[in-house]
Amino acid sequence: GKKWTKVEQLNSELKDQVVLVRGRAQAIRAVGKKMAFVVVRKRGFTVQCVLTVAPDLVSPQMVKFATSLSRESIVDIEGVISVPGQAITGASQQVEIQVRKLYCVNKAAPTLPIMIEDAARSEVEIEKALQAGEQLVRVNQDTRLNFRVLDIRTPANQGIFRIQYHVEKIFRQFLESEGFFGIHTPKLIAGSSEGGSAVFRLDYKGTPACLAQSPQLHKQMSICGDFNRVFEIGPVFRAEDSFTHRHLCEFTGLDVEMEIEEHYSEVMDIVDRLFVTIFDSLNETCSKELAAINKQYPFDKLKYLRKTLRLTFEEGVQMLKEAGVEIDPLGDLNTETERKLGQLVLEKYGTEFYILHRYPLAVRPFYTMPCHDNTNYSNSFDVFIRGEEIISGAQRVHVPEFLVERAQSCGIDVKTISTYIDAFRYGAPPHGGFGVGLERVVMLFCALNNIRKTSLFPRDPQRIAP
Ligand code: 4AD
Repeated sequence: GKKWTKVEQLNSELKDQVVLVRGRAQAIRAVGKKMAFVVVRKRGFTVQCVLTVAPDLVSPQMVKFATSLSRESIVDIEGVISVPGQAITGASQQVEIQVRKLYCVNKAAPTLPIMIEDAARSEVEIEKALQAGEQLVRVNQDTRLNFRVLDIRTPANQGIFRIQYHVEKIFRQFLESEGFFGIHTPKLIAGSSEGGSAVFRLDYKGTPACLAQSPQLHKQMSICGDFNRVFEIGPVFRAEDSFTHRHLCEFTGLDVEMEIEEHYSEVMDIVDRLFVTIFDSLNETCSKELAAINKQYPFDKLKYLRKTLRLTFEEGVQMLKEAGVEIDPLGDLNTETERKLGQLVLEKYGTEFYILHRYPLAVRPFYTMPCHDNTNYSNSFDVFIRGEEIISGAQRVHVPEFLVERAQSCGIDVKTISTYIDAFRYGAPPHGGFGVGLERVVMLFCALNNIRKTSLFPRDPQRIAP
């Protein structure tokens, strides 16, 4: 077979060697009739290919053919690597290919709704180009999402989705090393798993049913089935009404559930070590991807401590109070007060990643265990990156009679979750866990401003396609 080289592998060590690459014709420029440049791109990396009419290179017909190619067509290029005297600005790789052969494998439509070069520019680059009088189209978010297959070709987007997979991979590896194993719980369930109105209802062969708002009930039931320590990576459905920068109607949940031996802080210990491991690994092994994201969407590296800061909700309320923000000590935080507290925590403790625990019981779901020393509070926590929530977790109520009481006092129709309650009647160990929103982790690690950027084909209250 032929020997292919990847665009990202092209470097000056290959000087004078013949290479064969496949990619897309991102930009095509003719210089008279005897020369043309084709920038070829593959997974966010680009190389400049030079067509020059010469006996050992290409024919005039080939130059004509190259300049007639439509952008984004798939091409195969065979040529010799050369190293130009000056830096190449229009491509990521600092070598050129002197083309000998060019084949069009499959052509793209003659006009494109999005130009990848335009879609890949940072705000600063756009401003500069506009000031320089350059003609360019600012590609808005909706257009990007409407033509997502084009949009995800930008280097930043190529980076985002590889980083997202890396988070998932390290999540799995770390938990495995801690004695957890992966499960899959049903997404079609009889009653809502988190309560509230954000639930998609459907007809299940004549019986009312829901799309699971989380694996909550079944991951707990698996603990009742002696599974001891489990995790799940799967879709989560929320019929959110609010059209915000951080709510999707379908997202990827990273869920954990575990037996507790003595104290619910064991669950927070897992969160702590898991996320320090994930952040370290991203910084160590994803530098190319992070650089690509940073180029389009500049951001500062996340500040986090070796041992994650834990504050109680009461301490958080106190910090806000000292900063002149009064909130109900037994109420919840909102987007604004969460952000504010995030700033205060950064100033005082130098971290943008922390755990806030002992939340007021009244603002937590029915399955949450109250604190034994003060039932106004609960053994529960939220975790924040840059002042926004990425995780919520808790110890659960494992005594069936008490669980019924808690469900009823939260206004839940116990009949709809009777099989869940029954699971606790045959002996249930103390346990707890947490749920992470994958898209939020990537969004906030990279300080992106919209969760739609970290969802491959986002579903929000106004979008179910493509
Ligand atoms: O805070 P939530 O609703 O908690 C649960 O689902 C619990 N069952 C977790 C547990 O084990 N106690 O959701 C967990 C996480 C949130 O912290 C957030 O990161 C993410 O899921 N999330 C969303 N992400 C995107 N779009 C939405 N609409 C989200 N709703 C929650």
